[in-house]
Amino acid sequence: MSHPVPIQFRESDAEALALCAGRVAVVVDVGTLPPLARRLDKLTRGAVARAVASDSFARLKPGEGMELAFPAGMQAEALHLIRLPRKATVAEARKAGATVGRALSPKGTLVVAEAHPQAADIAFGLALRAYDFTTHKTGEKTLPGPVTMMVAKPEAVAAEARAGAAVAEGVFFTRDLVNEPANVLTTFDFAARLAAMHELGLEVEILEEDDLLKLGMGALLGVGMGSETPSKVVVMQWNGGKKGDAPFALVGKGVVFDTGGISIKPAAGMEEMTMDMGGAGVVAGVMRTLAMRQARANVVGIVGLVENMPDGRAQRPGDVVTSMKGDTIEVINTDAEGRLVLADVMWYAQDRFKPCAMINLATLTGAIIVALGHENAGVFSNDDALCDAFLRAAKAEGEGAWRMPMGEAYDAKLKSRIADMMNVGGREGGAITAAQFLARFVKPDLPWCHLDIAGTALLKAESTLAPKGATGWGVMALNRLIRDRFEAK
Ligand code: BES
Ligand code: MN
Ligand code: ZN
Repeated sequence: MSHPVPIQFRESDAEALALCAGRVAVVVDVGTLPPLARRLDKLTRGAVARAVASDSFARLKPGEGMELAFPAGMQAEALHLIRLPRKATVAEARKAGATVGRALSPKGTLVVAEAHPQAADIAFGLALRAYDFTTHKTGEKTLPGPVTMMVAKPEAVAAEARAGAAVAEGVFFTRDLVNEPANVLTTFDFAARLAAMHELGLEVEILEEDDLLKLGMGALLGVGMGSETPSKVVVMQWNGGKKGDAPFALVGKGVVFDTGGISIKPAAGMEEMTMDMGGAGVVAGVMRTLAMRQARANVVGIVGLVENMPDGRAQRPGDVVTSMKGDTIEVINTDAEGRLVLADVMWYAQDRFKPCAMINLATLTGAIIVALGHENAGVFSNDDALCDAFLRAAKAEGEGAWRMPMGEAYDAKLKSRIADMMNVGGREGGAITAAQFLARFVKPDLPWCHLDIAGTALLKAESTLAPKGATGWGVMALNRLIRDRFEAK
């Protein structure tokens, strides 16, 4: 499991700067250089001032940087000048950190942030972008050397950075789960990683197939029938709030691999379906963050872990299954499996925990990617207040989210000739009919949001805060939502 690089905070020290053998990154803006930057300018015989006054520096956007290799007068391999105005947005400050985080030196990195008011945001961006999934690379690994930030008030910044470190831990946990291949991250392995979070003070229970059968989870169990690895439901509880207060529920789709089942997917790109447990991965990451920062909130996270495989025992198109709620479902397409898993886990969450609100996350449809691309997750809700609160939290964290419509006309497309509903509603508006299916498993009056993260969980190109691959999208927004809802003084 990967952890964020530890960052040391200390006061300005010109001597340490001159002696750093790795990378020195200086956060500056056009105009007068702050004291330590001026010292560096002296050491480099004016190179810093000339670079900062150059046209190319002026063209940098806030948070971007320019590199001087093997600067004269210093021991460093590189001097990295990062442009950041003193009054930057949180996103810009994180980006400045990320610019350094993607280029950490094995010989150590010194970040000069002097009196910048957003040193903690810079540190957070640095930590997030320094993520690297190297579990399955053999050979010599070049690990980043120690990272030190020179700031005006080291203790205060370190305290501020601690909350960020808990969030980064959660994001890394999610990214590791999403990046892991399906022969490693089986339902067994996934459940074991969640059970290990017991150490952090989370209460973790694993429900096995016979438990699920007793509960009547016919929709979820149908999906896993073709797999050699058993289906599981894992319940994680964090009770840091007032005793007896109804918990906030998070529910995640955890399809460890989605071949499509008998309605099998085409070969090209199928390997990407190792990320089909992304919803469960985000739920797990949020729970980890809540525990690490000892959140004053009651939150229950429940994930349905299954593998969707074709086999002699697999469920067929045309099968009718009975959900825990009691509604019957005609399985028209075995590849529309996520909603079958969620239907039962969502019902269980409401039935057992009587939550005050529920948010579910799933890499549910290719249709949401057609609609919104990879920049925004689809948000579906029956409650304007909860939905707006989520959208605000996502915006504040720079995680793209866009509300999608719902309505009876979409729901009508799920009508089945022989059962209470079909599991698909046609190609048109596919992400919406999927959400309508889920809505049938939400009790009346429960504020609920469904987040379709098929486009945002994993990216083929690097983004500001993550390398190629798993992003951990949603951990930051949900952590903020919970903080603002339950912990604001
Ligand atoms: N896991 C997929 C959705 C998906 C697609 C996630 C691309 C990430 C990237 C889901 O189980 C699925 O197969 N959905 C089908 C639904 C259809 C059969 C109604 C889809 O989107 O094609
Ligand atoms: Mn599928
Ligand atoms: Zn799927």
